[in-house]
Amino acid sequence: MGELRRAGRTGGPGFEKAYDTNLWAWLGQNPGAARQFNDAMREFSATWGPRIVASYTPFGEASVVADLGGGTGAFLTEILTRYPSVSRGVVVDQPSVVEQARARADLAPLISSGRLDFFPGDFFADVPTGIDVYTTKQITHSWSDAQLVSLLKRCRDASPNAKFAAAELVQSHEASKFLRHFDIMMYATMAGFLRSGDEYADVFAQAGYELQRIVPTGTAFAIIEATPA
Ligand SMILES: C[S@@+](CC[C@H](N)C(=O)[O-])C[C@H]1O[C@@H](n2cnc3c(N)ncnc32)[C@H](O)[C@@H]1O
Repeated sequence: MGELRRAGRTGGPGFEKAYDTNLWAWLGQNPGAARQFNDAMREFSATWGPRIVASYTPFGEASVVADLGGGTGAFLTEILTRYPSVSRGVVVDQPSVVEQARARADLAPLISSGRLDFFPGDFFADVPTGIDVYTTKQITHSWSDAQLVSLLKRCRDASPNAKFAAAELVQSHEASKFLRHFDIMMYATMAGFLRSGDEYADVFAQAGYELQRIVPTGTAFAIIEATPA
């Protein structure tokens, strides 16, 4: 945040100006901080996940759900628990994060039953195939339009019939102080930003999807639903 002014003046993430590398690479080199970050994300998802997941019953119509940047699995676990009809969930995340997820004792029953699976790697390079619903939570605001479109296109190619149900923060003129603060934080750390409904419609369209609706969840998050165009 101390580099925010310089970031605003010169462009690019403040985090990179302070640390000479991006947030994800830095976390990769600092396992203690990465664990703390991943635990914080898990708490975030454990707190709000139940209301978000309960607000979007179409999750229950999917057989296989992939959570892109799914962290240590809290959001996807909530989907699998609330909707037993979902036969398999796949967490896509960086290998070090997947390693931390696999070590979670509370996930052992879901993993051993085959309902929870992992796809370690860079989601810009590869995503799992055979998916019915791709989901995200707190992911899209980290990436530029060009990066997000390339990720969405990769999903569109990997599973041409799959839909998207992204649990994300949506910008609007009525945005709460929390959202406005979060927007600035994302700008400082990753030159990221919260998108409005129209901006989501535009990036999804560029990747070959049609935005269907934005479903409120009674939390700061909404589900952005898009289907192949
Ligand atoms: C803000 S966290 C969100 C975690 C989780 N979705 C949640 O809400 O609890 C962003 C996640 O994206 C993952 N990530 C970042 N870049 C990635 C990449 N290129 N490929 C796969 N995962 C990535 C990070 O490791 C991190 O777990």
